[in-house]
Amino acid sequence: MEKVHSIEVEQTTSSRLAQVDFENLKFGHILSDHMLVAEYNNGAWQSVKVVPYGNIVMSPSSSFIHYGQSIFEGIKAYKQENGDVSIFRPDQNHERFNKSAARLEMPTVPAEIFMDGLKTLIDLDRDWVPPTKDASLYIRPFMFGTEAALGVHPSASYTFMIITSPVGSYYNKPLRLKVETHYTRAANGGVGFSKNAGNYALSLHPTKLAQEEGFDQLIWTDAEEHAYVEEAGTANLLFRIGDTLITPSSETILRGITRLSIMAIAEKWGLKTESRKVSVQELIDGIENGSVTEAFAAGTAATLTPIAEIGYQGKIYKLSDPATREFSNKVLQYLNDLRYGRIEDEFGWNLVVD
Ligand code: PLP
Ligand code: COI
Repeated sequence: MEKVHSIEVEQTTSSRLAQVDFENLKFGHILSDHMLVAEYNNGAWQSVKVVPYGNIVMSPSSSFIHYGQSIFEGIKAYKQENGDVSIFRPDQNHERFNKSAARLEMPTVPAEIFMDGLKTLIDLDRDWVPPTKDASLYIRPFMFGTEAALGVHPSASYTFMIITSPVGSYYNKPLRLKVETHYTRAANGGVGFSKNAGNYALSLHPTKLAQEEGFDQLIWTDAEEHAYVEEAGTANLLFRIGDTLITPSSETILRGITRLSIMAIAEKWGLKTESRKVSVQELIDGIENGSVTEAFAAGTAATLTPIAEIGYQGKIYKLSDPATREFSNKVLQYLNDLRYGRIEDEFGWNLVVD
């Protein structure tokens, strides 16, 4: 059994809040005043503290540096129209975090640390949630193995932390994506569904090559044939083909919470939805014959970003003008209205921090 924890709080004596320009936020460059730190050792969580944001000390032989036991999540908190602060579906991130932990042979984090810690931290730093349009507080929970030992085995100790950062948009224009047919992000039986640091490290070189060709990001394809669409580097992909909203689904793809929410809204609105394999050929044929009317990336950082062009085997396929896309524009507006508290939260997705 995990112990039940009380969260110790040490407040900063020198807030950096007054220096923040909420009108000009780049993604992830400014970190809020406080962070949460919890330590796991001897088979149990030992301590949970909220302390001023700052550097941490660790051994150079900490196991995560060498062998990569390192997982994370991405969540956003919003300033609602009535002044409340709400966090979007953090229970889903908690569940996914513990699935990532299990796959990497790391301990799970109980709700009284993940969820109560999140609420305590966001309550303390509530003035860091930007009041400005389309901005939010990005929340980054993460955990890494800290045992100082060079043998390859599951770490005996771990640190779980949460840091937060006021952010604007991650992408500020429609995307040009390249279908990747050489490099692989994830194979069956691997770690594609988990949000571990290695999945991002392996993406950097292929993504840089695509960026040198003028693309913003990749569309990953399956490891066996490079014939099926998986996801983008930082977001899931959704396509409106005919009268159906379709998202690729497999164990090699991150189970995105933004995508899950968009599919639920589409169903509520009576649109047909399918989570299934999507071949690159189906997508390319659909763009050419006009049946792919909308295509977008969906993620916590990316929110909903339209796809303008797709590059495949040296050819560029152009999609419709994003301004004319009925569902994408309507669902983004709806999600924003829901998160910023401008409409009723009919799904019960906002966790208001009292
Ligand atoms: N896929 C990848 C690789 C991601 O990094 C993200 C972002 O978290 C997503 C998909 C979308 O997931 P979510 O909507 O839960 O943020
Ligand atoms: C997120 O949307 O939370 C992500 O993790 C994407 C990226 C910033 C790593």
